Amino acid sequence: MIPTVARITGTGRGLPSRIFTNDDFASIGIETSDEWIMERTGIHERRIASDTETTCWMAATASRQAMARAGVTAGEIDAIILSTATPDRLLPATAVDLQAELGATRAAAFDISAACSGWLYGLTVAEGMIASGAIDTALVVGAEKMSAIIDWKDRSTCVLFGDGSGAVVLQRNKSGERAGILSTFMRSDGCLANLLYRPDGGAAHPMTAEILENRTHLVKMAGREVFKHAVREMSEAADRALDSAKLRAADIDLLIPHQANTRIIEATAKHANISMDKVYVNVDRFGNTSSASIPIALDEVIEKKIVGPGSTVMMVAFGAGFTWASAIVRL
Ligand code: COA
Repeated sequence: MIPTVARITGTGRGLPSRIFTNDDFASIGIETSDEWIMERTGIHERRIASDTETTCWMAATASRQAMARAGVTAGEIDAIILSTATPDRLLPATAVDLQAELGATRAAAFDISAACSGWLYGLTVAEGMIASGAIDTALVVGAEKMSAIIDWKDRSTCVLFGDGSGAVVLQRNKSGERAGILSTFMRSDGCLANLLYRPDGGAAHPMTAEILENRTHLVKMAGREVFKHAVREMSEAADRALDSAKLRAADIDLLIPHQANTRIIEATAKHANISMDKVYVNVDRFGNTSSASIPIALDEVIEKKIVGPGSTVMMVAFGAGFTWASAIVRL
């Protein structure tokens, strides 16, 4: 039996306190209904951050809990890898704000931009850094303030997203046991970038009054096209994770898919041959929190003791880029 390189030793989540329900959209002049949103997405409510609940604040809240559960102090963190599509500032990385906030004085810190798959990308990068011998202990965080980049006048996108953060401590596996990361998989297709993106406001088209007026600095999405690709690529990611871990669907105790939409989740589970009673869903309470969705869910299922030591968990994500990724971990 080959021991794994790295294992998750602590998890945490950081969520804004304000709950925004589907019925609350009426109060901001959006013509929609709980029935429409629930039927198409399964989302009932989401968290919306206040001005002081920044991406860094949510990340720090999640990270402190993960570190406490892992029994690791800030000084023991070698690397902070923060996945976000919503950095607090464009320079420097939000990961270094988090480094300062935590007082992680020995840590390297950098952001990863791979949208909803970003936390799984980060987990894979952290595992590789541990395997290379460069580090022993990493903090891998997904933190998103999606409310800051969605178009609150576009009812086809603003109802889908929410704010939040999830974090794990990933450490070198010194136990000799086959517990930890069993397999990972990452893929991308930039030819499809324009199906889910923010057209303007970056270095190619720096912010102008016209961009602000036309709202092209905010998220635009071709919902139906994205839906089709999400189902296809998440299914591929599930297959590849199982293949490289040399496992079958029956070996998986719990599937944690990216929480974008219950219909995408159900289609992914069906393809992977995993029954819905082995699939964790919290999109009804948090909406799509992009790269925070899987680590938030992982923290919840461990806290609720739905899984525990020895459980095998498969995580699958898909997002803007497109990017898609998966990982299987034994807790
Ligand atoms: N409330 C009520 N009606 C709405 C609405 C809302 N919030 N948003 C859109 N509509 C209307 C549209 O205006 C359209 O009306 P029309 O037929 O009169 O023009 C109608 O609903 C159908 O719109 P359409 O976009 O075709 O709906 P859909 O069935 O494809 O559902 C999504 C839209 C976004 C829910 C669906 O495409 C989806 O889930 N896509 C994947 C999105 C996703 O998860 N992205 C993130 C991936 S990481």
